[in-house]
Amino acid sequence: MYDVEKIRADFPILNQKINGKRNTFLDTAASAQKPQSVIDTMIDMYTKTYANVHRGSYYLSEMATEAYENARNIVKNFINAKSEKEIVFTRSATEGMNLVAASWGMNNLGKGDEVLLSEAEHHGNLVPWQNTCEKTGAVLRFFKVNDDGSFDIENFYKLLNPKVKMVAVTGMSNILGTVFPIKEIANAAHLAGALCMVDACQSIVHTKTDVQDIGCDFMAFSGHKLYGPSGIGGLYGRYELLSQMPPYQFGGDMIENVTYEKTTFTTPPARFEAGTPAIVQAVGFGAALQYLQALGMENVKAHEEELIEYTNKRLSEIPELKIVGTAPDKGGVFSFALGNIHPQDVAFIMDKEGVSIRTGHHCAQPIVNRMGYSSLARASLGLYTNFEDIDCFVNALKKARTFFDR
Ligand code: ALA
Repeated sequence: MYDVEKIRADFPILNQKINGKRNTFLDTAASAQKPQSVIDTMIDMYTKTYANVHRGSYYLSEMATEAYENARNIVKNFINAKSEKEIVFTRSATEGMNLVAASWGMNNLGKGDEVLLSEAEHHGNLVPWQNTCEKTGAVLRFFKVNDDGSFDIENFYKLLNPKVKMVAVTGMSNILGTVFPIKEIANAAHLAGALCMVDACQSIVHTKTDVQDIGCDFMAFSGHKLYGPSGIGGLYGRYELLSQMPPYQFGGDMIENVTYEKTTFTTPPARFEAGTPAIVQAVGFGAALQYLQALGMENVKAHEEELIEYTNKRLSEIPELKIVGTAPDKGGVFSFALGNIHPQDVAFIMDKEGVSIRTGHHCAQPIVNRMGYSSLARASLGLYTNFEDIDCFVNALKKARTFFDR
């Protein structure tokens, strides 16, 4: 049984007041809060078992290496990869997508090739491909989303042709909440002779993720959205592909042999982890995934669905509020406009009420513009969000509306 009040007690930050008010944190899609187990794991490592990894034949280094590699194993199990060799630790999801666009893209794309993205991509998936296409001469295309934010399946199949070499798509839009059918997209990409990369930043938090079932070739995700620390992310890559890709960055720990004249490189994942990695962050990331596994992703999803229904019901009490992104089965993000009030002003009033929401283009400027806005406010749900959070949010919105009516 999912006991949200018990879960909330695991997140110390939720107990503090914000501007003298109850802390109503509704910006989990930007970065999630951390449970005590993650905080304790990281403190414990710094206190007792910290040293550099893969470099020392002494007790502390061996302990640290074991913890770091164990975290890789936890990530592998969390997404059901075939092998831990398919898990590269990165600084962030953005770094993972840059890695693929630079290492795979720069070496496999050229004039006459196409890369296909959705209109709803985050800058982290869009800008690296834009750069790679500019440099290689490949053409970047975008399949459409419908006006409610749902997947335009017809347009996707229309644009998918034998020239497409990579389909790179979000699993869930951070603006619209739309959940993209990534299994179908990966399958269609393969039938057309293309690879498929998934930006799973939002989708991996929302539902159970199985890369073998989805069949994608690459998947990027970040630790901080999965209730772990920032500064750490994961890139899944099919080993056959990773093993053929050249390094993305160069330095210590990714080499096989170095002379003044020439360097040979080691095998993945180390080939892609140049320099001292984010050791304690990786271990904290592992602790966060264990926390999620103990809760059960299916329970997290069921809780989110219940909250989405309640949020939609409560938001319908505010006639001037327009939700942007209303696709069926969407995840727990609510981008919205409140009449003509500037989103920044809405957020300002909210903050005074202890309610944290995000505003702006949310690092996905093209889709915000495509939906007819230059800026939106956004509330997003997490596994610790409860009905009281939604009530506080709706009350604060009503206050904002009245304030600007004057
Ligand atoms: N990509 C993050 C968001 O949607 C930062 O807010």
